[in-house]
Amino acid sequence: MKFFIDTADVAEIKALVPTGLVDGVTTNPSLVAKSGRKFTEVIAEICEIVEGPVSAEVAATDYETMLKEGLHLAAIASNVTVKLPLTVDGLKTCKALSDKGIQTNVTLCFSPAQALLAAKAGATFISPFVGRLDDIGHDGLGLIADILEIYSAYPQFTTEVLVASVRNPGHIIQAAKMGADVATLPPSLLWTLYKHPLTDKGLETFIKDWAGTGQSIL
Ligand code: E4P
Repeated sequence: MKFFIDTADVAEIKALVPTGLVDGVTTNPSLVAKSGRKFTEVIAEICEIVEGPVSAEVAATDYETMLKEGLHLAAIASNVTVKLPLTVDGLKTCKALSDKGIQTNVTLCFSPAQALLAAKAGATFISPFVGRLDDIGHDGLGLIADILEIYSAYPQFTTEVLVASVRNPGHIIQAAKMGADVATLPPSLLWTLYKHPLTDKGLETFIKDWAGTGQSIL
């Protein structure tokens, strides 16, 4: 499973890159607004820090303007992935950009039928929002299972399942068990994955016992 980082905060990305765990980055208009920075500048900076795909979302909702925005965003760097909403115009734009060899991420997916349409439109990634479905009492991980089952029935589909709106480690583990291609994680959640109280306790004991030997390795 690849890990993307769900943030437009360059400092958070810079802190995580040395872990070797950052396979890409996703942003959205809300995250860009939170960063308080100029969108195209922040995307260019992230693309220099991260080698993998960096999702940058269009702001328009009509096909013609989305296409222009998508081409503009794709010209920023070779690793920009144009993020498009799962609407009629969004999928038309996805098809047009995919036909030009531009990477796309279709976002705001909440049903298996929508994911099927995105694959047919040639999306590089489909982003089903697990947490937001759970928030309204639906089964977010069930959606991931459904999409994986559908995509596996059609080997000609190349769309990768990018698990989005991830809220907790359980979402990641369950999605990984199902074989989801990617999960995009808020930075704080990725740091949490390292943690286990028995690791801390065990290390404390090892450090104490090692000190008692009086030895040094170097
Ligand atoms: C994914 O691309 C989205 O930016 C993100 O995962 C949405 O998460 P949220 O539901 O926590 O806002």
